[in-house]
Amino acid sequence: MSETSTTPVRLTRKPERRTPPGPATGTVPGSGKTACIRTFGCQMNVHDSDRMRRMILDAGYAEVTRYEDADLVILNTCYVRENAVDRVRGHLGELIRLRREGRLKKVALTGCIGAAEESEILRRQFGIDLVLGTHNTYELAEFVGLPTMEETYTPELPGTEGKHSAFVTIMTGCNYGCSYCVVPMVRGRMVCRSKESILSEVDRLVEGGTGYVTLLGQTVDAWRRDGERFCDLLEAVAERAPRVSFTTSHPSNMEDRTLWAIGSRDTIVKRLHLPVQSGSDRMLKIMHRGYKAERYRRKIGVFRDAAPEGTLSTDIIVGHPGETEEDHEATLGLVEDCSFDSAYVFKFSPRDGTEAATLGEPVAPEVSQRRFVEVLRGIEGNAFKRNSRKIGSVEELYVRHGANEDGRAIGETWTGHAVHLKTEANPGEYVRATIESAGPHALYGSLCGSPYGARSPYGDV
Ligand code: 5AD
Ligand code: SF4
Repeated sequence: MSETSTTPVRLTRKPERRTPPGPATGTVPGSGKTACIRTFGCQMNVHDSDRMRRMILDAGYAEVTRYEDADLVILNTCYVRENAVDRVRGHLGELIRLRREGRLKKVALTGCIGAAEESEILRRQFGIDLVLGTHNTYELAEFVGLPTMEETYTPELPGTEGKHSAFVTIMTGCNYGCSYCVVPMVRGRMVCRSKESILSEVDRLVEGGTGYVTLLGQTVDAWRRDGERFCDLLEAVAERAPRVSFTTSHPSNMEDRTLWAIGSRDTIVKRLHLPVQSGSDRMLKIMHRGYKAERYRRKIGVFRDAAPEGTLSTDIIVGHPGETEEDHEATLGLVEDCSFDSAYVFKFSPRDGTEAATLGEPVAPEVSQRRFVEVLRGIEGNAFKRNSRKIGSVEELYVRHGANEDGRAIGETWTGHAVHLKTEANPGEYVRATIESAGPHALYGSLCGSPYGARSPYGDV
């Protein structure tokens, strides 16, 4: 593996600066150095990209969105499934062609592929200029001409600040050993950041205008430090930030009191992402998930009691080696019982170095495909029913994405539903809308009354 030590060390910059490159000159290609960051995968990667963005901007690069306008392209990658690697290969092929034509200078590969052994093969095959894993992202600073940062554990590096919404990493790595998963290999073992450091980052963000804080971690609810557990931290953050969410949780760590806190705290979005992976106890055991389906169902019961209108999502893998028709039926049963609002359904993808890659009893591709469709159909049917119940309700929406060319923006209810609507409100503002129709993946609404809600900068108008 190409990653470096995971020892947490405070971020300190070495005193003397190297020759700093020129200041950022906006996003016009040709007016200075330019860089393009492309992010693949989960929210942890989105957050890591935010950190790298700060480094390149500090180093005087302007950010551009097209490869051909960039001097430096950073591919921040995901390694969880093989198709993620295939996608990155496609992008690398294009980048190398552009570099050969002299249209870009340097290519960097970062993130989870960068932390895996396969990155060495890709480096040689495509002549990549810089390969970084998930624990040495800070080395990008030196590469772009910033002063060297002493070895640091990435959670100490702040992400984007002062934006309307921000991620705050509270832990990295994972102490579980799920049969199919590369995360413990590429992200290392769990390291929890101190509550003090987390809260001071939250305070800084809120002071800088951030209205929405998402706590991040691979097993975010496993956070514990100095005798305190995740719920203690969540409650402290909910006292400080106007709007709070968190992801991703593990069922074995999810405490009932956290579920009640989601339901009762005004500032916590009533949304829970709790990956179940399978509804069969036999598969859960083979996967080393550490819980049985019944325990998962019980947790969901508590969540539904605590936040009846809240949204629940999950991850499910179909076609893991050894999965029988009976196991699959058990998953379909759990999907019915839990009535998820949405789910990420994955076909098993064998990953080098994981236990599942060495297990016999592979599931035939056509069987996996059928099971995939059946699970998805079950999820979508329930989601559509649950979403339809919202039609006619009036909701306060946090605008997550401002209007696109068609004037359509995406807002989020306090129950975590995505709502598409026409509004000119900016990201971070609140609007009030009536829900007019529903699909399996989103709600559709229109502004009602004033374009702003109770939390608008102009008060309750
Ligand atoms: N094959 C298929 N899906 C996987 N996931 C993780 N590893 C694999 C794999 N090898 C899924 C799990 C996890 C999500 C992030 O990706 O469902 O929760
Ligand atoms: Fe992977 Fe399991 Fe850890 Fe989640 S809990 S990151 S699936 S090993």
